[in-house]
Amino acid sequence: MTTFTLITGASSGLGKDFALEYAKAKQNLILVARRKDRLDELAETCRTTYNVRVEVFAVDLAQAEAVSTFLDNLDPAWFIDRLINNAGFGWHGSYEDSDPETLTSMIDVNVKALSVLAYHVIPAMKTNRQGEILNVASMAAFTPGPYMTEYYATKAYVLSFSMALREELKPYGIKVAALCPGPVHTEFFKVAANTPNGLMGAITLESLPVVRKAIRGLARNHSVTVPGLPFKLGRVAMKLVPRSISAKIIANVQKTRG
Ligand SMILES: NC(=O)c1ccc[n+]([C@@H]2O[C@H](COP(=O)([O-])OP(=O)(O)OC[C@H]3O[C@@H](n4cnc5c(N)ncnc54)[C@H](OP(=O)(O)O)[C@@H]3O)[C@@H](O)[C@H]2O)c1
Repeated sequence: MTTFTLITGASSGLGKDFALEYAKAKQNLILVARRKDRLDELAETCRTTYNVRVEVFAVDLAQAEAVSTFLDNLDPAWFIDRLINNAGFGWHGSYEDSDPETLTSMIDVNVKALSVLAYHVIPAMKTNRQGEILNVASMAAFTPGPYMTEYYATKAYVLSFSMALREELKPYGIKVAALCPGPVHTEFFKVAANTPNGLMGAITLESLPVVRKAIRGLARNHSVTVPGLPFKLGRVAMKLVPRSISAKIIANVQKTRG
């Protein structure tokens, strides 16, 4: 049996840094995203620099059939002992003016594929009484987010899903955690047609420290990792402020962006 860390959304941003960090820690990798050229390049770097085994799968996680074909193609001799459910994207704009296909894909990738992948890896983890699942949520999970309405809602799902699954899988020695970062310098904002400005722009985090904190949090079995002091304080503030008020604040912040 060969053990692997499966990382979705490994072609850029946080996912790429997760891959490099776990390769450095001598973990074999299964890398998933749509842009195969980027995955191949990353896989080669991991193989030559860290001497680990890397398998690449170009999968559109918004397509249910593609997800199930991918899962069918995984060798039964491979044990996925760690799942980094990282692929995701957002979209900025008023809900009713958003492209309906983009909205559907967002739920398919951020919610559906994430859940299906977790469902797939759990049985072997249970049998082996070992496993880690890290779901990448966001600070967006803590509040409603007008003008990124659906994105915030998907991340609320990811957080709730992670916390519930964590309790279910605790007796089997399987760790489940959520990563909830504030803004990070990746391709996310280009894809979302949204750029953090003002204070948010100034405190936007770099990807590698976020990933390192997430890996440490997961290893220490922390339920939720929120990297960076300003965002830890933000999380506390969001617990104190009624959701109706935080929705108004986020609406004002998002309206100034574009
Ligand atoms: N950056 C931030 O400010 C921030 C803050 C909080 C949470 N997050 C979360 O962090 C995670 C990673 O995002 P990032 O910031 O690293 O952004 P990114 O650089 O845009 O990376 C997103 C990754 O998801 C993959 N992906 C998107 N749609 C996909 C699809 N249909 N099928 C397969 N893969 C798909 C992309 O690969 P392909 O395009 O090659 O398919 C890419 O590898 C996301 O879940 C995001 O919501 C980001």
